[in-house]
Amino acid sequence: MKLTIILTSTRPGRAGKAVADWFHAHARANPAGFDITFADLQDINLPLLDEPNHPAMQQYEHEHTRRWSKIVDDSDAFIFVLPEYNYTPPSSFVNALDYLYKEWNYKPAGFVSYGGISGGIRSVETAKHMLNTLEMVPVKQQVMIPMVADHLENGTFTPTAIHEKSAQTLLETLARWASALKTMH
Ligand SMILES: Cc1cc2nc3c(=O)[nH]c(=O)nc-3n(C[C@H](O)[C@H](O)[C@H](O)COP(=O)(O)O)c2cc1C
Repeated sequence: MKLTIILTSTRPGRAGKAVADWFHAHARANPAGFDITFADLQDINLPLLDEPNHPAMQQYEHEHTRRWSKIVDDSDAFIFVLPEYNYTPPSSFVNALDYLYKEWNYKPAGFVSYGGISGGIRSVETAKHMLNTLEMVPVKQQVMIPMVADHLENGTFTPTAIHEKSAQTLLETLARWASALKTMH
């Protein structure tokens, strides 16, 4: 089973890179049965949705969409490394999800969220509505990182014991869902 960790912030100077690097390293050391891959929306560089057809038709006109489609289609589960902007997910996340439909269907997803005092919790709750509509299974287990800036130094994120423990619970739960849902896609 392939797990794709998706770094959703595309902002120059983003905290998300350090958080995603930590989670990626943690997941590679404790993979819970997954093959781990990594996708950075900054590199994937999708424009604002520019496909004329509904994604469920899978009639893509652009190479960037076909590349993104393959990454998502090849995955059995996802972790979104998600900040909170104005109590919601960043537009890069919404845009990347909007591009596709069937490629997301019947796959589980979890969140590593971060922000100010809320730890990105409002962003995740909003994101879950969208995942449900894409026929995904958002898992309850989550890594939440309040006051993310307090855990960063020179581009490195230093986790607490709670972050490490919740990362492991999240990976193990996601693996159970991925295994159960594999028969559906
Ligand atoms: C446009 C914008 C809106 C923000 N809104 C919130 C917010 O609603 N809640 C919060 O906890 N933090 C908010 N923040 C602070 C971010 O959580 C913090 O800057 C974080 O580092 C953003 O993730 P990034 O650096 O990976 O892009 C906001 C930051 C930006 C840039």
